[in-house]
Amino acid sequence: MDYEMILTERDGAVGIVTLNRPKALNALSTPLVDEVVDALRAFDADPGIGCMVLTGSERAFAAGADIKEMKDLSFADAFGGDFISSWDRIATMRKPVIAAVAGFALGGGCEVAMMCDLIIAADTAKFGQPEINLGVMPGAGGTQRLTRAVGKAKAMDLILTGRMMEAEEAERCGLVARIVPADRLLEEAKTLAATIARHSLPSLMAAKESVNRAYETTLSEGVHFERRLFHALFATHDQKEGMAAFAEKRSPEFQNR
Ligand code: HXC
Repeated sequence: MDYEMILTERDGAVGIVTLNRPKALNALSTPLVDEVVDALRAFDADPGIGCMVLTGSERAFAAGADIKEMKDLSFADAFGGDFISSWDRIATMRKPVIAAVAGFALGGGCEVAMMCDLIIAADTAKFGQPEINLGVMPGAGGTQRLTRAVGKAKAMDLILTGRMMEAEEAERCGLVARIVPADRLLEEAKTLAATIARHSLPSLMAAKESVNRAYETTLSEGVHFERRLFHALFATHDQKEGMAAFAEKRSPEFQNR
């Protein structure tokens, strides 16, 4: 598939999607988001891929939704066309997706990073929800996912002021899993993705689904859901292989089944 605004690459079992609209700091226009969804879906459906990385440029992961595209939208356009509802599809991948963020991750850029399963940040990363400066508010999950990630106080601080937060603060408050030097970001993200992808795919997908369930349900229901998936994994070849390999003091050879 030929894309105009993204680049895609395979590195072993890792699928990499790079936002590539440098002149606009990867501003997330509708066609760009459609391409991202399409590329992630293709990797998600590819049996040879175990983990995906979504990244941008050195200067910007993404500086937000495309302001020039949306500045003249009417309420009827936005509501009637359910503007940006398609973005949610990024969060529906079943395999793990890592956001590798350098530079700006603002507004919709921060929201897309939060749709991924974990964020690895360059020391140059800057996160924020600056929509308040434009007379609007976050619209692609920012008030929800940021609040769950960092708590109400910090989410209010960021969303109501529109200020940016550096990588270190983002790690301290739990938005970011790891910080790495900017020139090592992609390598580190690929290594992390390859490490994840070495595991059995059914167990990765079940674990991802179960962690995400923590955001959707009560503790007792979540723990119940987790236990049922845990039980189900005993039906896999890879459970037998993983546990046999441990007992035999060798590395497991998973077959994703
Ligand atoms: C469209 C954008 C853009 C955006 C940057 N550009 N961000 N175009 N939409 N979100 C364009 C600029 O217009 C400019 O194009 C080029 O990218 C470079 O940007 P500069 O501003 O010249 O760079 P710099 O001075 O380094 O400032 C970087 C910046 C600033 C601080 C990131 O660009 C900025 O504040 N951008 C907007 C950030 C923002 O408000 N994001 C939230 C958007 S709302 P030209 O052609 O002039 O060179 C949003 C809603 C989400 O995301 C909710 C629903 C999806």
